[in-house]
Amino acid sequence: MPATPATTEAIAAAAEVLAAGGLVAFPTETVYGLGADATNGQAVARIYEAKGRPQFNPLIVHVPDLEAAGLHGELGRCARLLAGAFWPGPLTMVVKRREGSGISELVTAGLDSVALRVPVHPVAQALLRAAGLPLAAPSANRSGHVSATTAQHVVEDLGGAVAMVLDAGPAALGLESSIVDVTSDVPVLLRPGAVAAEAIEAVVGARLARHAAAGLLPTSPGQLESHYAPRTPLRLEAGFAAPGEALLAFGPVALPGDVPTFNLSPSGSLTEAAANLFSALRRLDAAGARCIAVMPVPQTGLGEAINDRLRRAAAPRSG
Ligand code: TXA
Ligand code: MG
Repeated sequence: MPATPATTEAIAAAAEVLAAGGLVAFPTETVYGLGADATNGQAVARIYEAKGRPQFNPLIVHVPDLEAAGLHGELGRCARLLAGAFWPGPLTMVVKRREGSGISELVTAGLDSVALRVPVHPVAQALLRAAGLPLAAPSANRSGHVSATTAQHVVEDLGGAVAMVLDAGPAALGLESSIVDVTSDVPVLLRPGAVAAEAIEAVVGARLARHAAAGLLPTSPGQLESHYAPRTPLRLEAGFAAPGEALLAFGPVALPGDVPTFNLSPSGSLTEAAANLFSALRRLDAAGARCIAVMPVPQTGLGEAINDRLRRAAAPRSG
């Protein structure tokens, strides 16, 4: 898939691809983003598939302005101050996720917070407005590669996996957005990026707390303390559910009628299973079972990230 110059017509076509659940790579002022409709779990699952990312990390949701941000997150005083100073622009804020916002649980990896960003790039702005959808968009590179700063990088890395790559020349900043968590009274710098920490501190009027692993993205187990995990223990590779257990099923199997059950994908689709994973865990966690029996999920494609998350949810936890 060659890159397409980001004309008005191309942006309109890209908006249709997004509305239909497809992937579009688009320029922002920081790096190129790999975008999908953030309210469509299967579209979001395709982001992970395209990137070949073996883990589900929460993704940044891109919106055109403060008003749209307010539909998806609860913006407190600090968030509004920072938005006034830096939006649109390369600052991402993690805020409490708004109840019923429609953002897929796969985007937030089951967390009750959401990362919101209002990019300033005119093509990103035009695409967000044409699509009329919040867009989940990590950097448009394969997992483990450097972030893509030109449309050519995106084509080389992801060419076959995206429906369209909108080309607007090299990204101006070449460095990802700074991420600040403003869910509590003390703002925390989760990722240093294109907005200097000092500039953020000047607006907030206080020193930013640094994430324990600032500089490292919270991508590996344990790095993001707030990773969602069910309270109910998990029993992996289960063939059946015992009395008192709940069942997390996968594929075309006969389900028991006597225990709480959720089938991640009756047809055996890993994309559908990924889209359902976090809401399924939440649902079964609330069922009051002593244990959630989890049927095997194949370790291919998105199955790797699904199994990674299931293993982490099953691991013994301290505290
Ligand atoms: O510059 C950028 O921000 C680029 C361009 C494309 O906009 N986007 C980007 O998105 O870097 P992404 O999805 O790769 O950023 C993911 C990071 C996660 O690794 C995590 O650090 C943080 O955003 N994050 C997202 N949601 C979070 C949440 N609810 N709580 C804590 N951290 C979160
Ligand atoms: Mg990245």
